[in-house]
Amino acid sequence: MTKMLGGGEPPTVLPLSEAQLLCEPDSRPQAAVEADRDRPLRGCFVTGTDTEVGKTTSAAGLLSALAQQGLRVAGYKPVAAGAVWQPAVNGTGGHWYNEDVEALHAASNIELTRSEVCPCLLEEACAPHLAARLEGGRIEPELLIAGAHQLMSRCDVLVVEGAGGFCVPLVEAQEISGDLAALDAAAPPRTGTGWGTDDLAVALRLPVILVVGLRLGCINHALLTAEAVVARGLRLAGWIANRIEPAMPHAQLNIDTLTRALQQRHDAPLLGVVAYHAPATAARVADELDVGAVLDALGLRD
Ligand SMILES: Nc1ncnc2c1ncn2[C@@H]1O[C@H](COP(=O)(O)OP(=O)(O)O)[C@@H](O)[C@H]1O
Ligand SMILES: [Mg+2]
Repeated sequence: MTKMLGGGEPPTVLPLSEAQLLCEPDSRPQAAVEADRDRPLRGCFVTGTDTEVGKTTSAAGLLSALAQQGLRVAGYKPVAAGAVWQPAVNGTGGHWYNEDVEALHAASNIELTRSEVCPCLLEEACAPHLAARLEGGRIEPELLIAGAHQLMSRCDVLVVEGAGGFCVPLVEAQEISGDLAALDAAAPPRTGTGWGTDDLAVALRLPVILVVGLRLGCINHALLTAEAVVARGLRLAGWIANRIEPAMPHAQLNIDTLTRALQQRHDAPLLGVVAYHAPATAARVADELDVGAVLDALGLRD
């Protein structure tokens, strides 16, 4: 249920149901695939208080900061909804364009194809499970988990960006065909509730970094998200305050309150305050992150 980024035909000549250009099946020997699955992931799962709060911006900044430490880093966007066809330029093949995928691809410092960065790219810019349904298919949890492990075999640190907020449905309960428990024997997903970005984070067992888009209401959203993260047995490794609204009144007081609350309740440190930038490039964001705190938070220090 994915588009093959970097290839394929423009949607104008393909009906949507046929535009599901399936990801290449993993053609490596089964032993190699299983070895990947056994390798624990290193890195983080970046979630946010909402959509459009700066997850991609922060993930790109994290990749850039970690790359500056000499690490081989890869960005991973398991599911992205919203793609436009970019026609071929100067004879080079066209591809499906999505801003998040481009940003994470650009901030990675190992050779990656777009479909490695995002194995499930959906055309419609809406809730992912609905975008998949509109294309006549459904998202495959196994594909998203396997993609992360495959990337991990080629890098030191994986920065995974969720979709939307923390609890976004990816597959609704009635759409689930196989045995979800088989995905993760150690932490089988809740039954009867479908499978979402929170379940994906659990399956990847990565520490979570919470991006808080500073605006009115963000304290409540941040505390609720933090509770949801730890309730699923995940570690909240830290948070990033992102000044998405440059004129927000009392922004620093909001940051102070959240710093205390997230530290006291979840032992989660503030990893950086990102100012409003036009544009908010990965390099600028990297400069504002406390890379030492990031390395500690992710257990990457020797
Ligand atoms: N610190 C910032 N300063 C200025 N613009 C920002 C900042 N952080 C994010 N943005 C902009 O806000 C929009 C949403 O950010 P993005 O990182 O894509 O959020 P998300 O991944 O959570 O949806 C993008 O256009 C991005 O460039
Ligand atoms: Mg994003």
